[in-house]
Amino acid sequence: MRTDRTFTMLKPDSVEKGNIGPILEKITSAGFKIAALKLTQMTKADAEAFYAVHKARPFFGELVEYMTRGPIVAAVLEKENAVEDFRTLIGATNPAEAAEGTIRKLYAASIGENAVHGSDSDENAEIESQFHFAGREIF
Ligand code: CMP
Repeated sequence: MRTDRTFTMLKPDSVEKGNIGPILEKITSAGFKIAALKLTQMTKADAEAFYAVHKARPFFGELVEYMTRGPIVAAVLEKENAVEDFRTLIGATNPAEAAEGTIRKLYAASIGENAVHGSDSDENAEIESQFHFAGREIF
């Protein structure tokens, strides 16, 4: 299992607010190399499958609605200790609790609309990367 890759999505709120450039700049400035990148839109079925682990949560319907309402930027990022370092860079799920300077502190509006996704394990990084990208799209 690789430990130098993670998967991210700049969520619909980030795209709507014109924050693709600033967020990608934060990511690359932090030492992450972009191994795959695309603008895409998830279908309802995509979002339900991607977030299947949250199916029983009260916010599931809201989450699927949010994640499908417009395009996202999907990316595979490469750096030593990628999963943990990226989660540090994005900050806590709830932007109100996120550390100063983190992406969610800077760009997220709420716990629901929290600007970015970051994989929570090396295994999920691999699964999520394959969910969004064909092998030939990852460099
Ligand atoms: P993330 O951690 O990337 O993946 C699960 C998402 O569910 C999370 O970001 C939020 O977008 C959303 N989420 C988590 N907790 C809540 C909550 N309490 N209310 C609404 N949405 C939530």
